[in-house]
Amino acid sequence: MSRPQDLAGRTAIVTGAAQGIGAAVTGELLARGARVVAVDLAAEAGALGGPERVAVVRGDVTDPATVAAAFAAAGALGGGDPPSVLVQAAYAGAPAPLDGQQDEDWERVLQVVLSAARRFDTAFVRALDGRPGAIVHLASPHAFGAVPGFAAYAAAKAALLALTRAAAVEWGPRGVRCNAVAPGFVPVERNRHVWTDPELSAAMLRASPLGRFGSAAEVARAVGFLAGEDASFVNGTCLAVDGGMTAMLPEALLR
Ligand SMILES: NC(=O)c1ccc[n+]([C@@H]2O[C@H](COP(=O)([O-])OP(=O)(O)OC[C@H]3O[C@@H](n4cnc5c(N)ncnc54)[C@H](O)[C@@H]3O)[C@@H](O)[C@H]2O)c1
Repeated sequence: MSRPQDLAGRTAIVTGAAQGIGAAVTGELLARGARVVAVDLAAEAGALGGPERVAVVRGDVTDPATVAAAFAAAGALGGGDPPSVLVQAAYAGAPAPLDGQQDEDWERVLQVVLSAARRFDTAFVRALDGRPGAIVHLASPHAFGAVPGFAAYAAAKAALLALTRAAAVEWGPRGVRCNAVAPGFVPVERNRHVWTDPELSAAMLRASPLGRFGSAAEVARAVGFLAGEDASFVNGTCLAVDGGMTAMLPEALLR
């Protein structure tokens, strides 16, 4: 599929880039012409492209040293120019019953999903120093509705949407747009136990009006759109890329 080259000559930072949706986003931004700094705990991000287009920063997004390393790598990759696209896709979930969750697990989810996002966002805006840019946060349908066992994830993703709106309003006047994408269920290695289980996957598919799961590439194309020039007047919104799942009421299952 041909892509607009609207990110040619620009540098992007992608967190959670080694696999799943973050890896697909890295591929999408490269296809649109960008250079990409791939940030992840895991090392596989290096497999995504050659050194002239991709730099790998191995580290934990909650560590300020990782943020500094990512922006230093972006500056080096971009010939001294700051990054103008930031996509945050690192995952943390720690599923547990609400009344049985360990405090440190709850805190960890909030740190990875929310606090690290704020730290990367603010470093991004400081680096831009008045130039325009685009931020995309990976949110989730859990920001809108509850599933037992996912309270920490839901609270963090709902707060991430609040951060999305705050950044959009506070930094819009500087030409920095901030949006979110909320993917429906996308089969990745981490959730293999769901999509390989016939009963679980059948239940998930009943909740999908399109009758199928989404792919990481479909989510990445929406991220590419929000990062690029076609979304030049889109700011502060959350784009559901979920096959209609969050548009559906449970009553639909009775029809
Ligand atoms: N897959 C889905 O069904 C789905 C649905 C809705 C939302 N999302 C969101 O999309 C994003 C990507 O999800 P995914 O399913 O592709 O995840 P994934 O588990 O396939 O990949 C996540 C990546 O994040 C990295 N990571 C985790 N913690 C990190 C940390 N502290 N520092 C640096 N890197 C870290 C992991 O090493 C991994 O490479 C997440 O924000 C997730 O919440 C995914």
